[in-house]
Amino acid sequence: MTMDGKITTRNYSPVDFTSREDKAHLIRQRSLGDAVLIGYGSLKRDNVRLGVPREELRDARVKRAQSPYPLRVIVSNAGKIDNRLNIFQTDFAPIVIFSTQRMPRKDREALRDKAKLHLSENDDVDLAQMLRTLRKEYRVRTVACEGGPTLFRSLLERGLIDQLNLTIAPWLFGGRDAPTLTGLRKDFLPKSVCCRLIDMRVVGDECFLTYRIRN
Ligand SMILES: NC(=O)c1ccc[n+]([C@@H]2O[C@H](COP(=O)([O-])OP(=O)(O)OC[C@H]3O[C@@H](n4cnc5c(N)ncnc54)[C@H](OP(=O)(O)O)[C@@H]3O)[C@@H](O)[C@H]2O)c1
Repeated sequence: MTMDGKITTRNYSPVDFTSREDKAHLIRQRSLGDAVLIGYGSLKRDNVRLGVPREELRDARVKRAQSPYPLRVIVSNAGKIDNRLNIFQTDFAPIVIFSTQRMPRKDREALRDKAKLHLSENDDVDLAQMLRTLRKEYRVRTVACEGGPTLFRSLLERGLIDQLNLTIAPWLFGGRDAPTLTGLRKDFLPKSVCCRLIDMRVVGDECFLTYRIRN
């Protein structure tokens, strides 16, 4: 995020204001999880494949008895998911989608061969239940969530995050309509969240922070 707490611009353009080191840091964090989780807003905007491009990171995963790539997990309440996105054109790791019965029939059909669908009867995805399903059905023990801010806030509100990796980039954007780390919602979190700084690394003009979240 920028020094004034913004994680993207007003137009929600793909994130490109951080260094190569930050991008490598993101991939390293991604490579640690059994699964990588993303909200549909970020998937749609950034059109990411959620791979692990560096061979040594994949080798390290295999040495830790993980699959070479993390399981790719997408969350969407509405379920209007575009099957032409880049992620669906790759098959290096399975894709699992948690959505609801609101997902249009044509999207279900289009995604059937590309992803495993978990469709809740409720209007919203139950995130705690999603994590239980990942653990029980996919043997997932660690999840690296890449946001975005709406999903991050939902997880935070439910006490489902234990660690936050935050890079402060040397920019100021301003702008009331540019989302912060917890999105655009004007209301406070139901409860302030207290974090403990467990690591800090400065590279060039960026600061890489790791917080433990006290739930
Ligand atoms: N700077 C960074 O590190 C960073 C990281 C990630 C993303 N971003 C930026 O963030 C922007 C996107 O923001 P965003 O708020 O739209 O991101 P987001 O949280 O990825 O996406 C929001 C959408 O994800 C689904 N979702 C979120 N929480 C959910 C929940 N609890 N249950 C079910 N579905 C849920 C919903 O999809 P449906 O509408 O389909 O129901 C929701 O509309 C992009 O510009 C992206 O580049 C920045």
